[in-house]
Amino acid sequence: TIDQRLDELLGQMTLEEKIGQLNQYTGDAATGPAVTDNNKLGQIRSGQVGSMLNVKGAARTRALQTEALKSRLEIPLLFGLDVIHGYQTTFPIPLGEAASWDLAAIRQSAHIAAREAAAAGQHWTFAPMVDIARDPRWGRVMEGAGEDPYLGSLIAKVRVLGFQGENLGGTDAVMACAKHFAAYGAAIAGRDYNTVDMSRRTLWETYLPPFKAALDAGAATFMNSFNELDGIPATGNRYLQRDILKGQWNFQGFVVSDWGSIGEMIAHGYAKDNKEAALQAITAGSDMDMESRSYMPNLPALVREGKVPEALVNDAVRRILRKKFELGLFDDPYKFSDEKREKQVLADPQSRTTARDVARKSIVLLKNENNVLPLSKQTKTVAIIGPLGQSKRQHLGFWNVSEDSTQVVSLYEGLQNKLGKSAKLLYAKGCGITGDSQADFAAAVQTAQQADVVVMAVGEARDMSGEAKSRAEIYLPGQQEALIKAIVQTGKPVVVLVMAGRPLIFNWTADHAPAILYTWWLGSEAGNAMADVLVGDYNPAGKLPMSFPRSLGQIPIFYAAKSTGRPSKNEQDINYRSAYLDMPNAPRYAFGYGLSYTTFDYSNLTLNTKQLKKADKLTVSFTLTNKGKYAGEEVAQLYLRDVVASVTRPVKELKDFQKVMLKPGESKTLTFTIDQEKLAFYNPDMKWTTEPGEFRLMIGSASSDIRLEDTFELVD
Ligand code: IFM
Repeated sequence: TIDQRLDELLGQMTLEEKIGQLNQYTGDAATGPAVTDNNKLGQIRSGQVGSMLNVKGAARTRALQTEALKSRLEIPLLFGLDVIHGYQTTFPIPLGEAASWDLAAIRQSAHIAAREAAAAGQHWTFAPMVDIARDPRWGRVMEGAGEDPYLGSLIAKVRVLGFQGENLGGTDAVMACAKHFAAYGAAIAGRDYNTVDMSRRTLWETYLPPFKAALDAGAATFMNSFNELDGIPATGNRYLQRDILKGQWNFQGFVVSDWGSIGEMIAHGYAKDNKEAALQAITAGSDMDMESRSYMPNLPALVREGKVPEALVNDAVRRILRKKFELGLFDDPYKFSDEKREKQVLADPQSRTTARDVARKSIVLLKNENNVLPLSKQTKTVAIIGPLGQSKRQHLGFWNVSEDSTQVVSLYEGLQNKLGKSAKLLYAKGCGITGDSQADFAAAVQTAQQADVVVMAVGEARDMSGEAKSRAEIYLPGQQEALIKAIVQTGKPVVVLVMAGRPLIFNWTADHAPAILYTWWLGSEAGNAMADVLVGDYNPAGKLPMSFPRSLGQIPIFYAAKSTGRPSKNEQDINYRSAYLDMPNAPRYAFGYGLSYTTFDYSNLTLNTKQLKKADKLTVSFTLTNKGKYAGEEVAQLYLRDVVASVTRPVKELKDFQKVMLKPGESKTLTFTIDQEKLAFYNPDMKWTTEPGEFRLMIGSASSDIRLEDTFELVD
């Protein structure tokens, strides 16, 4: 058994060899502050390195694995990489995929990413990022599933299952890594790596559930985070790693630090030097040191001085080696480094088909006045205007593994593929993404005037959202909104496509452009997916996984807010109310919002009881009807409010949803079941429980668009 093999191997290891297994170095690229090189090859050969990150390809991983097998005990290396939204085939950024609310599609995208990565030498992806994010200034919102713990938990689960399959060891799967444990998404003012200050309640209610879901789905590893929590850096935080993760949750995998996060405890003011940082980290439960270079030089002495019990090191090594056994690396260290398989898998055309499918499912229709969309396929002349109109590179988004932008379909090409020779496509850039030096509005206006319809491609460059990519101002950058204004003023029908890694603010556009599609960064098949939506070959069904603010001053903004003692009923109700004088409380576009080319009607809400006993389940059903002339999908959302409780509850919490396809005129009865779990919360003693009393049930098309409401009572 693996346990016997582990015992046997551990019995042969010196202390230095054990600590070597806890040591992870970067290979060919830096995804953090670069550290000076230190004879890595020599260290690999002498068993002082357990894992490498940022080494790509079957040939390169094979070469380094050969070096590791020269070490005394021939322990294979573990290769890890940030495969966040695809390896060769690039899928939409995770926040975009989350807008699909399509769990099967998200799982499939993770599966293909894993299959490609596993064929190219990888054993492990540093994904999914399951951090809840409620501040769009934070650049890493692009990498998660948005603001909501319920949706975030479901997505965390399917991403883990997609990456790992049901069991480790297959060559079409890699280990997942739930990150960043924990609360990294709550960096103050959205500035990356900043301090987090949060109540235990918020931690447990909002930030931990997606981690628990990832764990329950079998996530093999966790990564801790850069932030502090309650004054203690997460990397040195015993409460997070020992008490919760490895204690209460009984996590059997291993925890990797984030890049340099052990050493960074010095800058935090939590450790006086690297040795003390190593002591804090291993004691707190960080098993692997990613690029801090703290464990290798300090742990042997700490053990010999009696400051770190060897049992702690043994536990960390066992956790790491167990995964190497489970992956089958001791039986075949080159299992994942097969150049022939790599070539075949990376060329599989089916991956592109899936990428197109996921990409179009990720697009959100924000506005469609006078049914400007879908465009008629008979349109004669289409002007594509804006800095992203012919771009390929930007659609790769941040954390792209494939740097090959030639494989990306631009919007221009997508429309060309779609409309063929029947339509004339014109293009004008108008301005750059940032700055104003390249602005040429006159040429853009002239181009627009020659067209029947204008499709505008604006947004962020791919390195404007991501790690260390926080922005204090999240307006459409540069001159782009001014360009939109100039084009809309031509009077031509204008469709604005916004391509970005986060919610942006574009109030003028929201008020004046007739049609807006939010497309995020869609990956390899971006142009084809956008063209499918533009002409109605695919009816958009995406729903926002994050609130879009009207103003920076509203941030942080999220739908699951509390009532306060002086709630404001509407925009006029502001005197001595919890409101702004100069702005509504409501976001520009709310969580769960997204339109379709058709419209849906909600009716006939029925509850099987109005008095729910604790042992029973509530059955809720209603009729959903497609009232328009296009077939389409709707994400029907169910929200609950616990009206009075021993702890105040949010005014709305998403508790379930269904994505349903309906033909024109078709009706379906949808049924939701509400069990105790959906009614429970942490009481004042932080006990997960339900309390009798009234609940409000809300069903709708968005958190801001509730169509059916009722109440029921939970009775003892
Ligand atoms: O996996 C990432 C992490 O999310 C942020 N810092 C660098 C790591 C490795 O690239």
